[in-house]
Amino acid sequence: MNIASPCVSSLQDAPRPCPTFLRLDGIGKRFGPYEVLHDVCLEMAKGEVLAIIGPSGSGKSTLLRCINHLEPPTCGTVTLEGLSLKGGRVSRQELLALRRRIGMVFQSFNLFPHMTVLQNVSLAQVRSLGRSRQEAERRSMELLDRVGLATKAKAYPSQCSGGQQQRVAIARALALDPELMLFDEPTSALDPELGVEVLNVMKELAQEGMSMIMVTHEMHFAETISDRVVVMAEGRIIEQGPSALVMRNPQHERVKRFLAAVRNR
Ligand SMILES: Nc1ncnc2c1ncn2[C@@H]1O[C@H](COP(=O)(O)OP(=O)(O)O)[C@@H](O)[C@H]1O
Ligand SMILES: [Mg+2]
Repeated sequence: MNIASPCVSSLQDAPRPCPTFLRLDGIGKRFGPYEVLHDVCLEMAKGEVLAIIGPSGSGKSTLLRCINHLEPPTCGTVTLEGLSLKGGRVSRQELLALRRRIGMVFQSFNLFPHMTVLQNVSLAQVRSLGRSRQEAERRSMELLDRVGLATKAKAYPSQCSGGQQQRVAIARALALDPELMLFDEPTSALDPELGVEVLNVMKELAQEGMSMIMVTHEMHFAETISDRVVVMAEGRIIEQGPSALVMRNPQHERVKRFLAAVRNR
């Protein structure tokens, strides 16, 4: 694969070479007899924003979870700038080292209901990074302010809308200072209006240079925010390229059918 291509942020920009930040080599995943990922290879540069799209069941979530080894890949290697983890042969130390560098946001927000928003964002900072409570809360307030929720710090998740809870989940992931953020359909459980709040936060993060991989069904968002769109079907990457190109002029028949179906919905 041409490693210069990820740095083409628009069709007008001249390609410039950039080093690989994340590399997936031959990632495979089996659940018992079912092979759900086949030889997935992918490279991304630091600061790049990738959108993964594709039909339901094509392995998008599994691939995202294999990147931070939440699901250990059956085979293949994940390399994140200087750290290489081989599927099936990973020590606990390597696992923690990888996970500390990657933040993840899921479709369901998974906040602790008995803790305030501030406590939810602060907890892992104290436990995983060893920050003092005071230091963690200061950082949490900075991040809550950044996602527009400083006034909700003392509220409980049940007192927040779904969009607000998802923004808290983003602040919680950012609080661990990740180098890469993974988003798995972060707006699919939300009403469209509340989804927009979340998409705006993601758009700002992308503009600030965060390296991001998002699985999304928001096609307009994928086209306008990401540098590159990756399309999956049946456990494989079947097409990838600059977002506008893939979305407007897909080459693969399966991609054409998928895009036509989602647009006609
Ligand atoms: N823990 C699991 N055990 C067995 N099969 C699974 C598991 N997780 C996912 N799968 C299967 O793997 C395939 C891909 O799933 P998934 O990655 O969730 O797809 P997508 O996110 O694209 O909808 C599906 O057929 C799904 O049923
Ligand atoms: Mg999924």
